[in-house]
Amino acid sequence: MYKNLLFEVKGNVAIVTINRPDKMNSLNTETLDELKSLFLSIKEDENIYVVIITGSGEKVFVAGADIAELNKLTVISAKEFSEKGHEVFNNIENLGKPVIAAINGYALGGGCELALACHIRLASENAMFGQPEVNLGIIPGYGGTQRLSRLINSGRAAEIILSGKNFDVNEAYRIGLVNKIFSQSELIEKALNLASGIASKGQIAIRHSLKAIRGASEIPLHEGLKYEISLFALTCGTDDFKEGTSAFLDKRKPVFKNK
Ligand code: COA
Repeated sequence: MYKNLLFEVKGNVAIVTINRPDKMNSLNTETLDELKSLFLSIKEDENIYVVIITGSGEKVFVAGADIAELNKLTVISAKEFSEKGHEVFNNIENLGKPVIAAINGYALGGGCELALACHIRLASENAMFGQPEVNLGIIPGYGGTQRLSRLINSGRAAEIILSGKNFDVNEAYRIGLVNKIFSQSELIEKALNLASGIASKGQIAIRHSLKAIRGASEIPLHEGLKYEISLFALTCGTDDFKEGTSAFLDKRKPVFKNK
């Protein structure tokens, strides 16, 4: 159905794999369009609770935007090009369901930016990171200047973006870019374990948590705290809240119905 993406669903977890191996899984326009369409259908699919996004093979997550396409841009088309990437990555970040990046190798340029748009980043031991755009005479155009500066500190983000140097997974872990490091063979299994754990909770609580966390990077603290109060109160109107708290008191496992 998709030329450059693989898609499978295990239980309530979807796995999206960028699959353009002859071009290092780089994001050409066709792949971005496919990602847009797939994430729109994932958003609508009530049986998908959590998404994992990864790259095919054992070497590359995503090696950035397609440099052959970049090479042809003009000022006008570059604006549209950047806007398209932003739209797709914003849709991922605002999916309303958790998205886990399972970074299985190089995450460069748009690949690092794609990982930044996800909510949780897990990586394999061979993963390499970088924003090499300055080496091409451009700047990151898929959200990297903004999301990297917010996720890690702005001094570190400046070093990464201005030096254009790649760095390894240990450095990525040290600066808080990735949450955990696994062997290549374990990565998807560990991502699935995490995703299945999240999928086993009441999904209203998961989605409200995600909204509140997202709020933290977008609104001032006093507004964010009020937002948390509203979302907390809303969760207390759900059947899941009654079930979760009652199950604890009854010393049994809760059965959430996402209502
Ligand atoms: N866009 C388009 N094509 C790309 C690409 C990209 N971002 N990254 C790799 N490719 C292509 C190469 O041109 C090559 O194509 P060819 O076989 O038709 O010549 C093929 O993928 C294999 O890449 P190659 O560079 O030979 O592999 P490698 O193993 O030596 O190096 C990387 C792998 C990822 C380190 C290297 O490809 C790389 O640095 N890519 C560019 C990363 C980048 O600058 N991204 C930011 C874009 S804004």
